[in-house]
Amino acid sequence: MSSTARGKQRNNDDYYVTPQWMVDEFIEHFNADYPQDKDAFVLDPCAGGCDKYEMSYPTVLQQHGFKHVETLDIRNDSRANFILDYLEPQLAPIYKLIITNPPFNCSAEIAEKAFKDVSTNGHIVMLQRLNWLGSKKRKSFWENAPLKHVYVHHKRAGFDPEKPSAKDSVEYAHFVFQRGYVGLSHISII
Ligand SMILES: C[S@@+](CC[C@H](N)C(=O)[O-])C[C@H]1O[C@@H](n2cnc3c(N)ncnc32)[C@H](O)[C@@H]1O
Repeated sequence: MSSTARGKQRNNDDYYVTPQWMVDEFIEHFNADYPQDKDAFVLDPCAGGCDKYEMSYPTVLQQHGFKHVETLDIRNDSRANFILDYLEPQLAPIYKLIITNPPFNCSAEIAEKAFKDVSTNGHIVMLQRLNWLGSKKRKSFWENAPLKHVYVHHKRAGFDPEKPSAKDSVEYAHFVFQRGYVGLSHISII
């Protein structure tokens, strides 16, 4: 994930820890623009966490009053409720919101799976580098993705809590999709 120190820091399953301030900043804006039902089912399909660190999204979502956050991750040492490969199981589309920072190497596949697992008109949110919008590989993904809003974080983040002062060298954004959305995409700098 980190564009500067990716080679050094990458582990097999692309585990990084999203800073909770970044999730909090996004949820504040997202919920103001698109008020969320806090009683609805929410899924974080790449929830992360380990013996040292909390799962960033579930922790912050709960602080914002979301009552039903389900968690899944492929790593055995994750704190998720279900340890499995999100790309494998067929899930019932019961989630009003699917939100995560997915592994970069299969980010588009994770998003496409989430488009199927979210309920009608539900939102899908993926944190990625701003240049996720580019590349030949993802052209067909973007041509078909129901992209509604891109929230660009003006403040650079670090994804290694062991090195709190090390910031990534690129901007990140929360990409918001909505099942069935066909209108123009909005951009906010937050
Ligand atoms: C970039 S980390 C982000 C972790 C957490 N979402 C966060 O924001 O702090 C990506 C996470 O996805 C998990 N992961 C990788 N491939 C996966 C898959 N196919 N299914 C579910 N989880 C996966 C990794 O184990 C890792 O915890």
